[in-house]
Amino acid sequence: MIWIKNIHQLATLAGGQKGPRSKEAMSELGLIEDGSLLIEDGKIKAAGTTKELKEAYAAEVQDAEIIDGSGCLVTPGLIDPHTHVAFGGSREREFEMRLEGVSYMDIMNAGGGIHATARMTREATEEEIIEQTTSRLDSFLKHGVTTVEGKSGYGMDLETELKQLKVMKRLQGEHPIDLVPTFMGAHAVPPDYKGREDDFVDYIINEILPVVAEEKLAEFNDVFCEKDVYTPEQSERILIAGKELGLLPKIHADEIVSYGGAELAAKVGAVSAEHLLKASDEGIKALAEAGTIACLLPATALFLREEVAKGRQMIDEGVAVAISTDCNPGSSPTTSMPLVMNLACILMRMTPAEALTAATYNAACAIRREDSVGSLEVGKQADIAMWNVKNYQELQYLFGVNHLKTLWKKGVKVVGE
Ligand code: NIG
Ligand code: FE
Repeated sequence: MIWIKNIHQLATLAGGQKGPRSKEAMSELGLIEDGSLLIEDGKIKAAGTTKELKEAYAAEVQDAEIIDGSGCLVTPGLIDPHTHVAFGGSREREFEMRLEGVSYMDIMNAGGGIHATARMTREATEEEIIEQTTSRLDSFLKHGVTTVEGKSGYGMDLETELKQLKVMKRLQGEHPIDLVPTFMGAHAVPPDYKGREDDFVDYIINEILPVVAEEKLAEFNDVFCEKDVYTPEQSERILIAGKELGLLPKIHADEIVSYGGAELAAKVGAVSAEHLLKASDEGIKALAEAGTIACLLPATALFLREEVAKGRQMIDEGVAVAISTDCNPGSSPTTSMPLVMNLACILMRMTPAEALTAATYNAACAIRREDSVGSLEVGKQADIAMWNVKNYQELQYLFGVNHLKTLWKKGVKVVGE
């Protein structure tokens, strides 16, 4: 039993509406001043004020390991609902090229970008990818993250796609972070399929998706729906085929140009639509109506030197928003969810409370894990982050600094003394 007491501010994220939170519900943090948490068997046994728990659990707290939360903010462990974390190599030279004036898409169309990482991922052994992914996941932990979604898509052939997904499956048992796997075979058009994209779509549908579903290697199915990559029609075929096999749809939508991706996400009932930098006003309305979560990635916009998505407008219009690092070697190599929360506030005018909801409870909804993580409620996993700041506003205000003090995953301390 662990008793965390005297917490200056405990943001439980409890209550609010069931399912993804939108509008005012995104500001309901379930705050408790002088808060306290009791943890047993990796789960939350009780949450309340220090006084309440001391009285209600007098016997239990006597024998518990006591942690003093004085002066600290405590939140659920952060959740990153969109990453490409399991890949080989890195692309720092492309970063330099982009600063010299070459565009992201030009680099990719010339065989670099996603294709470069696909080559490095194909050439790397499973062990090498495990090693590199582990060090990225360690960095996520150090930034207060306890659950990470991860996509394949640097293989684009059966063997390498399965290799990436198997790496994630192995790490799920070996690393403290919970990994949620997404298949993303349609991440780019392989060079030998250029001009006959439909054939590659057929290959994904007929040869890869059935194996991924059969071997239960992924829960979600994602597509890069973008001009010069996959059209909305091709994307829809892949997403519907996945859905029939039990894989829930997600879409990289309207990242580089406005392309009807948000509209398609609503149409196919996607769990989330990602990026949305260039989403149209109609697309934003469609997401609100369909209840599709907008997963926004402000670090990607910053790193690509692009305008961010219209996060403020989306929330005002009733879209439930989650945020994520997009951790990948090309458009956002960061592992810092605290930085992403800061950027959500600074660049998208989300409030500090909305940014915290977007990185915890709504992020859990975007990967369908809201019943076990994303808030500190009785019976949920004891995934808990303690921060060296007094309150949630300060967490967003003192930006660009890692304030994590201690992190527990399923009740086990994984960061901090
Ligand atoms: O989410 N847009 C497609 N995929 C990634 C980038 C992948 C890469 O550049 O390696 C993204 O931005
Ligand atoms: Fe992405």
